[in-house]
Amino acid sequence: MKFYQSKIKKAKIYLDNHHCIGVPTETVYGLAANAYSSNAVKKIYKLKKRPKSNPLIVHYYNIKDLKRDCILSNDFLKLYKKFSPGPITYILKLKKDSKISKYVTNNKKSLAVRFSKHSLFQKLLNQLEYPLAAPSANISTKVSAVKVKDVKDEFGQKIKYILDGGSCAVGIESTIINLIGKPSILRLGGLEVSKIQKVLGFKINININPSKKIAPGQSCLHYSPGISLRMNAKNSKNDEAFILIKKKQNKLKNYFYLSYKNDLNEAAKNLYSCLRDIKNKGYKSIAVEKIPNKGLGKTINDRLYRASKFKNSK
Ligand code: TXA
Ligand code: MG
Repeated sequence: MKFYQSKIKKAKIYLDNHHCIGVPTETVYGLAANAYSSNAVKKIYKLKKRPKSNPLIVHYYNIKDLKRDCILSNDFLKLYKKFSPGPITYILKLKKDSKISKYVTNNKKSLAVRFSKHSLFQKLLNQLEYPLAAPSANISTKVSAVKVKDVKDEFGQKIKYILDGGSCAVGIESTIINLIGKPSILRLGGLEVSKIQKVLGFKINININPSKKIAPGQSCLHYSPGISLRMNAKNSKNDEAFILIKKKQNKLKNYFYLSYKNDLNEAAKNLYSCLRDIKNKGYKSIAVEKIPNKGLGKTINDRLYRASKFKNSK
């Protein structure tokens, strides 16, 4: 038996019995349950302390499985061919006879769907008779988990099993595109919008801070380490942790680096670990130097901006 097969077998037993488990994806860890089982899906909301009005992303093994639950548009097929599996989530029309639990969608007629690139997670999905609802494996409004220890820190003994797939390669959540009606981006993420635009051949509306919220992940105060954070800082004040985009010669105790060489992909991968590390070291506030607003820097700035709302909202 290959070493991973016993891990997958164990994961499957928990899922078949309507439990929630931690799963690795290339973006962040997910808190997964059978998307066809209301009993299982309700446990996700409870564990995450997530409002029932906030619908979940469903992860499929392949397009054949997806066809049972959703109506596939031409724009979807174009994007799927180019970017899936990968860090992109599509909002599609739900079929009337789909088996997806109404708790997944909050009774909506749309469904968020994703195909993950993580090979261990793909192998698990391939063994199951149902797709997996899996939001990020963190308590609502907090920083997402990018390794098994983070998931344990969030949920402790409350979840039965975590499928260990190492550290997440992208480290930041998927980009969400709404494909119902005129395509629009609902959340910036691990796939750059410019790449999506190139494939579709037209400019896509970016709707990440609408007055009427479509995705609750669009709300301010999200991705928060639970301490105050300020952006575009030139330097740090007393007792503040200082996050820098690239390594400096003068290593001070309160300096934290997102990358060695100003690499925005590496910075995105390290962002959440860095925020958790700072919190665990006991800092009460964070200053972050200006992050270039290009490529994945746009997603990093989006997350930092939402995290920066912590102080004002308390
Ligand atoms: O990378 C990711 O997307 C990770 C991994 C685990 O796949 N998942 C993730 O899930 O970030 P979550 O639940 O933390 O964020 C999903 C976002 C939420 O903001 C939710 O409101 C939105 O997707 N969403 C889910 N279903 C939707 C729908 N039908 N229409 C609009 N937004 C939806
Ligand atoms: Mg989340």
